[in-house]
Amino acid sequence: MSDFTNGFWSWYIGAISLVSILGCGWLLWVAGKAKVTVQAGQVADNTTGHVWDENLQEYNNPLPRWWMWLFILTIVFSLAYLVIFPGLGSFSGSLKWSTEGEHKQDLTSMRAQVAPLYAEFAVQPAEALAKDPRAMAIGERLFMNNCSQCHGSDGRGSKSYPNLTNANSAWLGERGAAHIVQTMTQGRTGVMPAMGAAIGGDAEISQLANYVLSLSASPHNEIKAFSGKKLFSACAACHGMDGKGNKALGAPNLTDDYWLHGWGEAAIANIVKNGKNNVMPAQASNLTAEQIHVVSAYVLSLSRSGLPGEPARPAAPASPPKPP
Ligand code: HEC
Ligand code: HEC
Repeated sequence: MSDFTNGFWSWYIGAISLVSILGCGWLLWVAGKAKVTVQAGQVADNTTGHVWDENLQEYNNPLPRWWMWLFILTIVFSLAYLVIFPGLGSFSGSLKWSTEGEHKQDLTSMRAQVAPLYAEFAVQPAEALAKDPRAMAIGERLFMNNCSQCHGSDGRGSKSYPNLTNANSAWLGERGAAHIVQTMTQGRTGVMPAMGAAIGGDAEISQLANYVLSLSASPHNEIKAFSGKKLFSACAACHGMDGKGNKALGAPNLTDDYWLHGWGEAAIANIVKNGKNNVMPAQASNLTAEQIHVVSAYVLSLSRSGLPGEPARPAAPASPPKPP
């Protein structure tokens, strides 16, 4: 209960709650004590004097006992509840119970349940885990919950979100468990500087873009590409003289047909002019080190299935292990 920014509101809400409950008790007491006032000329026949539909009279009988006790019980219950559980302003209750605390407790007991399984996984290299259907079932679920919103449920990514099922040559980093674990733990930021001014005007940028297209044998304008070649020396520091990229810098291979930020002259001209700051947030606060290890094996298996010469991913077991 830390939502109150100042003590006054805690007291204010607490007072309203208490006054309402005590008000109910008071109402009950007053209603029980109220006497019918007999006016001059009336007979004291225990009616309120209200008459409807010619002869329907309202009697002034006391509340039924059971009903009154139920009412009193409700009041006692509310007061006891407010002593035990949080409800009175920022008073946290004698049990110190909170939804957050309950969630943490659930999480701890769940983690304790799956700890032996994770301990077994932790001592195996990711390569071996990628062949274990139990680890892959858990890895898939963790991937769906933590990665799929950006990388797609099949890991194929989308514009600016890398496809994780590619061959190594199309990866920004060196495909492998170490790179995947590091990316998840620390996040990554791919920085392509804005280089429009360094290259020149739109004409030069168009020439350069056509040269970049020629690197992957994509359709391009030969003459422009010829003039663009010398401009590429400004890019070679990161993307390499041959345009094959530099994994240590995260500079992508420009000679393949995988385009993280879109294909074509316009997309290339755009990234040259405006640069790109591509951020993957670190996941270490969502996932434990053991979970990251399992997800890295899952991503490794994703990145390999279907590629020539790579093992296929093991099928999920009929009844997957309990979720971590
Ligand atoms: C908020 C979006 C987002 C989420 C969530 C996310 N990623 Fe990423 N991821 C990115 C972006 C953007 C990049 C590219 C960063 C760059 O350009 O360097 C990336 C890069 C990567 C890379 C490096 C790819 C390469 O080509 O080298 C790996 C591996 C990766 N993510 C795995 C994961 C895993 C596993 C998860 C889930 C635990 C995850 N990501 C969650 C956005 C995300
Ligand atoms: C300082 C290093 C650096 C320099 C210099 C640089 N780039 Fe890049 N470039 C990068 C990085 C890093 C990325 C990937 C950004 C990301 O992670 O999303 C990138 C991405 C790109 C892409 C997108 C590739 C794709 O798959 O969509 C193109 C195209 C590109 N650069 C072209 C160029 C050209 C042309 C030049 C020269 C004018 C150049 N770059 C200069 C680092 C550099």
